[in-house]
Amino acid sequence: MTRLQTQVTIVGAGPAGLTLAHILHRHGIESILIERRDREYVERRLRAGVLEQGSVDLLRAIGVGERMDREGLVHHGVHLQFEGERHRIALSDLTGGRAITVYGQHEVVKDLVAAQVGYGGALMFDCDGVHLRDLTTEHPVVRFNRGGVEQEVQCDFIAGCDGSHSACRSAIPAAQFTTWERKYPFSWLGILAAVPPSLDEIVYAWHERGFALHSMRTPQVTRLYVQCHPDDKLEAWPDQRVWEELKVRLATADGWSLNEGPVLEKSITAMRSFVMEPMQHGRLYLAGDAAHVVPPTGAKGMNLALADVRVLGDALARWYRTGDSAPLERYSSSCLRRVWRAEHFSWWMTSMLHRFPGEDPFQAKLQLAQLRYVCTSVAAATSMAENYVGLDDV
Ligand code: FAD
Ligand code: DHB
Repeated sequence: MTRLQTQVTIVGAGPAGLTLAHILHRHGIESILIERRDREYVERRLRAGVLEQGSVDLLRAIGVGERMDREGLVHHGVHLQFEGERHRIALSDLTGGRAITVYGQHEVVKDLVAAQVGYGGALMFDCDGVHLRDLTTEHPVVRFNRGGVEQEVQCDFIAGCDGSHSACRSAIPAAQFTTWERKYPFSWLGILAAVPPSLDEIVYAWHERGFALHSMRTPQVTRLYVQCHPDDKLEAWPDQRVWEELKVRLATADGWSLNEGPVLEKSITAMRSFVMEPMQHGRLYLAGDAAHVVPPTGAKGMNLALADVRVLGDALARWYRTGDSAPLERYSSSCLRRVWRAEHFSWWMTSMLHRFPGEDPFQAKLQLAQLRYVCTSVAAATSMAENYVGLDDV
């Protein structure tokens, strides 16, 4: 058994855990970050791609925005499409100049890992069997196994940043928190294709056959999604079928055409909404997907994770600097206002854009009426735009 000691133990090297480790480092607070997978795996895991203005500002402020500023694609608008017509929501014009940046989550992760490695941060990959104890004492403990050796870290605080199947969350007695959950009767099949994007902004498309999304990663790589059945397996979606559906669902009346190219990756993501309250127990603080999940329509998941750890990092810094525990006590309530706003926005976008199995024809008429309203009313478009680029004070 190896015994270690640190100030903050962080479980999970996703956007939440890595960003928190970096914020703490900048405040002179020592942490150990424990990750289950290897470095290559976390750096290649393809997930979200849209950074809100506030996330961009945070990554820049903590000194890891250099490559994002060079390679990220700044978008000043986004498109809603239905009945063969595409309508641009002018994000920047409607929000006083705010924008989103398309930059892959794995690129954010790579930049954060490189920064940690650069200054010799304690980043431990391949850690199994994480187990937490003594959470309500002043010296909580995280135990895990690495390379067959049992290790124990004693610390002041634990940050549970270990994603939606969080082992840290399981360490909290069920009576100490409440959860809210909604599952959606569809999934997203996503592909990454080696072909230039077919237009330079994101398109969210409503179609009788189901939702489709056109996005991108670089000027040479397109990211596309189609709504599929939640029980669908990848084998049911050979490349040709994916392109056929995308072409039909993204087609416009003016003859625009979708660029096709080699499929580099393909995966299916289930859709659900989930929130736990409170997001803390004793000296354990949960952040990101460990505490809340949104369906991806609206692109809020990674942004919420970053927003949580900004609050947590500042609260921990204050505690170490002054002994003031009030910001830590308020952590959960400070985050949950933003979380629930994003939960609503993601549910709203999801409900407006997807076909629900078994829905009556009335439902489609309501969706189309809502889409038309968002695309024609400045008030409704502004509401969508300010949520999409991210609200500062929620
Ligand atoms: P994660 O990124 O999940 O990171 C958690 C980390 O903890 C991982 O590295 C994991 O390996 C590690 N871990 C887990 N358990 C343990 C353990 N017991 N011990 C140690 N380490 C552990 N959002 C969008 O906006 N658009 C998308 O298209 C989109 N696609 C997604 C596709 C998938 C398959 C998933 C799962 C999520 C997707 N999301 C998307 C959501 C977005 O990626 C997440 O909200 C974001 O990753 C949250 O960051 P996080 O750091 O909280 O959690
Ligand atoms: C992407 C993912 C999303 O969930 C979304 O709403 C927009 C874009 C993407 O992967 O690029």
